[in-house]
Amino acid sequence: MNVLRTKSVEQSMNDTEDEDYKLKKNLTALDLMVFGIGVIIGAGIFTLTGKAAAQFAGPAVVFSFAIAAICCGLAALCYAEFASTVPVSGSAYTFSYATLGELVAWIIGWDLILELMLGASVVAQGWSTYFVTFLDEIGLGWPDTLGPSASASFGHFNLAAFLLVVILTALVAVGIKESLRVNLVLVGIKLFIVLFVIVAGLFYIKGANYHPFVPPNAGPQDASGLTQPLLQWIFGIKSQTYGVLGIVSGASIVFFAYIGFDVVATTAEEARNPQKDLPRGIIGSLVICTFLYIAVALVITGMIKYNKIDTEAALASAFRDQGKDGFATLIAAGAVAGLTTVVMTLMIGAVRVLFSMSRDGLLPRQFAHTSKRTGTPINITLTIGALVAIVASLTPIGKLEEMVNIGTLTAFALVSIAVPILRKSRPDLERSFKVPWSPFLPILAAVVCAYLALNLSIETWLRFLVWMALGFLIYFTYGYRHSMVGKGEGEPARDYSARGDTPS
Ligand code: ALA
Repeated sequence: MNVLRTKSVEQSMNDTEDEDYKLKKNLTALDLMVFGIGVIIGAGIFTLTGKAAAQFAGPAVVFSFAIAAICCGLAALCYAEFASTVPVSGSAYTFSYATLGELVAWIIGWDLILELMLGASVVAQGWSTYFVTFLDEIGLGWPDTLGPSASASFGHFNLAAFLLVVILTALVAVGIKESLRVNLVLVGIKLFIVLFVIVAGLFYIKGANYHPFVPPNAGPQDASGLTQPLLQWIFGIKSQTYGVLGIVSGASIVFFAYIGFDVVATTAEEARNPQKDLPRGIIGSLVICTFLYIAVALVITGMIKYNKIDTEAALASAFRDQGKDGFATLIAAGAVAGLTTVVMTLMIGAVRVLFSMSRDGLLPRQFAHTSKRTGTPINITLTIGALVAIVASLTPIGKLEEMVNIGTLTAFALVSIAVPILRKSRPDLERSFKVPWSPFLPILAAVVCAYLALNLSIETWLRFLVWMALGFLIYFTYGYRHSMVGKGEGEPARDYSARGDTPS
């Protein structure tokens, strides 16, 4: 058995030319940046800012945002180098197929599907909460039995989340350019709301709320059994509340707010000039979001004393507490628009990864056929849509967030390690973007990601292991035998020297 067989970069690029499995090359650098911002700014800033400030870091949550941004920035540099070298749909999955071998590629692809599908489901649930809040605020209602439920048990049907996913699936199936147009409008509204919070909030800041900026350490957080972080179970190191270590705990929470820049890399094949525009899209969207997040965190913690911040809907509540109910309604409306784009973009990412895996034969190949009319993989889109709709509408809220983080962190760590490996194995490839100080920075990125992953609960690790076991079962019973690379059916390498946008 040879599970370490690799798919050459040239072979991956050849596949993108196959008429039956071809995606349209439509996207510009601006599209990619909008796409990135569309998926990054979401439930994280609207809900987690309050939780991290109130429970872990106080006003120093701005440092938590900065630390999480540095961690993501390191991974983003690695993604950018890869995306500029191997501009093929599938993101980290494709990168690792070229470097670390088929089994690792499968593991990453399987991780990414977890991240993206569950991410879309979690944010769809968050969306339904804001949607119902918004309807309430404008005097309309939504039946309690068909909305989000606070109950932690299964069996409740969240119609609002279900309908959202059904509509978005239809949009994604029609075509990426069309869906990006809707995205552009929604991202515009979302940016306006975030800027509105920052500017309007400035007038309500009270200096006294910033004292103490780093609240004194209040000891470790209470967690035991399956809910304790894996790190605590192995080394006895507990998550701290407040103080300097509380800032680090806050960082592992707000990390979720940055998830999504990696999804830009899944659209590589649809970019007009992927080697220049992908690094711009990935890094640009991350930088813009970092500034906005830090500004929002500064404003909110300046408006309200950190221990009084609402941990559910901090942004809207901050204004309601100032007697500005109208502003709160506006923010809730903006959150509804904003979270819509996140769900859609995460679904597009999941479709692209599954598409690449099927095109490679690791999952049934017929699955990956693109429709002649829309240029999108319809079967895969409908499958992902159905799964996300089921998970979003039937699982209790608050159960799946950590699963998204673990899938993402594992993929980040593996991609980071793959950068120096590809540099060694294929020094000849043209790299229009290079991570500085390799291999030091990529290794540092992998270590930081591994550390954050160890901070997740034992329960999450166990669920993750079950998901991975299912993945191995599929790979060894189907994928290994049907792999196009394994069958030697990849086309012979083509000479790319004539094409301006691909490596020579
Ligand atoms: N970063 C995305 C969010 O905050 C996943 O919703």
